[in-house]
Amino acid sequence: MKSLKILIAPFVVPALLMLAACAPAPAPTAAPVAQPTAAPAAAEPTAAPKPEKLTVLCTPQEDWCQAMTKAFEEQTGIKTSYVRLSSGESLAKLRATKDNPEFSVWWGGPADGFVAAAAEDLLEPYVSPNAADIPAAQKDPNGIWTGVYVGALGFCSNKDVLAQLGVEKPNSWDDLLDPKLKGQVAIAHPASSGTAYTAVWTQVTRLGGIDQAFEYLKQLHQNVLQYTKSGSAPGQMAGRGEVAVAVIFSHDCVKFADEGMTALEVSFPEEGTGYEIGGVALIKNAPEPEAAKMWIDWVLTAQAQEIGPTVKSYQLPTNPNAKVSERSVKLSEVKLVDYNFDEAGKNRKAITQRFEDEITVAPQ
Ligand code: F6P
Repeated sequence: MKSLKILIAPFVVPALLMLAACAPAPAPTAAPVAQPTAAPAAAEPTAAPKPEKLTVLCTPQEDWCQAMTKAFEEQTGIKTSYVRLSSGESLAKLRATKDNPEFSVWWGGPADGFVAAAAEDLLEPYVSPNAADIPAAQKDPNGIWTGVYVGALGFCSNKDVLAQLGVEKPNSWDDLLDPKLKGQVAIAHPASSGTAYTAVWTQVTRLGGIDQAFEYLKQLHQNVLQYTKSGSAPGQMAGRGEVAVAVIFSHDCVKFADEGMTALEVSFPEEGTGYEIGGVALIKNAPEPEAAKMWIDWVLTAQAQEIGPTVKSYQLPTNPNAKVSERSVKLSEVKLVDYNFDEAGKNRKAITQRFEDEITVAPQ
């Protein structure tokens, strides 16, 4: 773990210097209006009332959701609450509450989840002025979603358990198929988790098709002890020694190691791994649209993107002006597959259904 150093991937280092403002300027105070003496005047436009509250659908780690909503509330005075749900659960929630949404903004979770939501008309495009700071490859040009962080998928192993099993730390997707790892692998279920869906689409990409991916996933299934609901939970299972290897985002493995699960170590498959661009988006028919836009403007600033490492969330920021933690994994040293977020998102529903039909049902 100590050997993981920082490096910002080339695509997160454009030399943009402008630090965008956190929130829109306050509305100007209306000047006193002279009262008409004769015919009644047309109604004066009134300044929009300041938003009072915001409810965020939050997919990253709970402590990061807490830190972000607290900081936003302190800076804006908008009473901000959140509910933490995994990506697939978030999609299901947005679908179920489509006609009367509970949330105004969705923050975090891989971009393909946002593409899937947009395909079901659950999001409202919003191009934040601060999106100008975010590299083009890390946002939807029409403002369906905008990238807020980046991170690579990896293997999170418990070195003590591996030693007991006499197995080297995995360096290849095929290493996970080792019969000695029977019942020693954990991964989330792709229907509920964006992390697990990233792992599935990584197989589609590296193996060249959905059928080929399912061939691999069926073999992997022989070694899987449990499919969890949340993407990072398998890392905690590995940290507790319940399994030898978890397939999770590498930043979550570093977080758990820094929080005391010191037997954990990260490795990456040499064939290439998938990665996420964590997104933010405005929810269609949001009950608090103005506050939601302020949130989106704010989470794209360097200042807001520097909050993650204070709670050991080491995803790489998308704002090139944000400082990068020395605990963040160097993406430029990881071999990445050519992950197509659009294609991944459009295929999400069909692939997760096929996973339920051919491999196992989603955890309840
Ligand atoms: O734990 C944080 C994190 O890995 C984020 O980087 C990611 O976007 C999110 O969790 C995915 O969560 P899930 O797999 O539970 O949908």
